[in-house]
Amino acid sequence: MTSVLILNGPNLNLLGTRQPEVYGTTTLDDIETLCKNHAEVTGMTVEFHQSNHEGTLVDNIHNARGRHDGIILNAGAYTHTSIALMDAISSVELPAIELHLSNVHARETFRHQSYIARVAVGLICGFGARGYVLAMDAMKDHLEH
Ligand code: DQA
Repeated sequence: MTSVLILNGPNLNLLGTRQPEVYGTTTLDDIETLCKNHAEVTGMTVEFHQSNHEGTLVDNIHNARGRHDGIILNAGAYTHTSIALMDAISSVELPAIELHLSNVHARETFRHQSYIARVAVGLICGFGARGYVLAMDAMKDHLEH
């Protein structure tokens, strides 16, 4: 059974109330439920985490080694700044998908830069909460082919 770590970075715990015009009104708990339901339907297992701390996210990525087949990462603002997260993904040698609720390329130019994209198999952005399900399907497909 495909096992995926879904990891969420800073400020994503505030989804639902945080800039709903940009990120929608779905909470992170709703997204976790969406992912767990989709996992059940598609025969996957998911572990779901959020942290506001870069080091904790690095630890979560390290812990995925040997336990999961891939990582779906919405690193929030750390996407645009964190060499540590990029190195962590390279270090564990697991396929990673970069994910964003918003279309970062239609936003401020500082959001166009991504350290995660350099080590990711692909990127999904702009589809809101549905992007999590799309990323799960993309990861399953990537692992099977
Ligand atoms: C985000 C986009 C990032 O630029 C931003 O810093 C976030 C959320 C998204 O899901 O759209 O925190 O990752």
